[in-house]
Amino acid sequence: MIGSATSNGRVSITGLGCHAPERVLTNDELSKMVDTSDEWIIERTGIRERRVAAADEALSDVSLPAAKDALEQAGGDAASIDLLIVATVTPDMAFPSTSAIMADQLGMKNAAAYDLSAGCTGFVYAIAQAHSMVSAGLANRALVVGGDLLSKIVDWGDRSTCVLFGDGAGAVVLERVPQGGFLGFELGADGSGGSQLYIPAGGSREPTSAETVAGGEHYVKMNGREVFKFAARVLVESAEKVLANSGVSVEDVDVYVPHQANVRIIEHARKKLGIPEERTVVNVDRYGNTSSGSIPLALADAEADGRLKPGELVLMTGMGAGLTWGSALIEWTANGKVGS
Ligand code: ACO
Repeated sequence: MIGSATSNGRVSITGLGCHAPERVLTNDELSKMVDTSDEWIIERTGIRERRVAAADEALSDVSLPAAKDALEQAGGDAASIDLLIVATVTPDMAFPSTSAIMADQLGMKNAAAYDLSAGCTGFVYAIAQAHSMVSAGLANRALVVGGDLLSKIVDWGDRSTCVLFGDGAGAVVLERVPQGGFLGFELGADGSGGSQLYIPAGGSREPTSAETVAGGEHYVKMNGREVFKFAARVLVESAEKVLANSGVSVEDVDVYVPHQANVRIIEHARKKLGIPEERTVVNVDRYGNTSSGSIPLALADAEADGRLKPGELVLMTGMGAGLTWGSALIEWTANGKVGS
């Protein structure tokens, strides 16, 4: 799916926030839990540490401060939000949705609320959807949360997966703006690769039972090499498609925010695309792969570092379970303002 976003007025991000659990888990600590080392993890992934939620912390707990910060930056009260989408693969529970839980906690009495599952690409899918609803007039102000607590579904005895992931969330407010804002999206999925990254049990195909738990089938299973190849390919292809469809050349991209899974994948994509290192946002070293939280966390980090200036072109590309991928291109605005 590909589309330019200019036909029906401009919609942009007017508020941004992020939050991660307090607990930092270092590579050295992990090397006491499984047969790995700080050197191996840094060399193969670039990850130095990640955040891990407490036993009593759920996704809504970690996402709430991010949502509040995004709302504060955008201004206006919570009741003005009429759409809340939470992109995640680790909701508080199967139902009610984490978005309905959060809408209640935030006092959003007028909001439609639902969760969206597209693996690590969830945030990009969710902003595309919120964008479409706002530009079509179905919603006026949307809050989109991207967040995951993969620490809750990872096998802490499996060194091939547990070193990669971390917990965190980000949130954005989307609404109409006079100028600037989203220029285009490109989204896709290839279900034939689904078994490269999945959780075998706990759904209607294989409901949870004593046997599935004993077999560890409620944990993430991943074919790392295949996912690596897929990621390296789609990060480049999807970015190229959204740029071409929006009539923007890669030299015009000021800030590149790729999914934060692995420094080697990010390096491959940015070199292939021809984006300089200094325009690329990397924080996987501090957070690991936070799935749906990855892109909004990286955006918020870039903003905190003064790297997101109104009028600049920001390219985001995600990929993940499904297998899915997605890109969004935006002319950055801050509180609806664009650069001169
Ligand atoms: N510590 C030490 N050794 C390890 C570890 C570890 N943590 N994990 C694996 N190894 C070993 C393997 O067993 C293997 O040993 P062998 O050669 O004796 O069999 C060796 O290291 C090399 O393993 P590879 O899998 O070839 O290592 P690779 O360089 O491919 O790196 C990695 C593995 C980091 C998982 C890489 O494949 C990767 O990043 N893949 C993409 C993962 C990804 O992006 N997933 C997220 C998708 S998004 C989402 O929706 C969640």
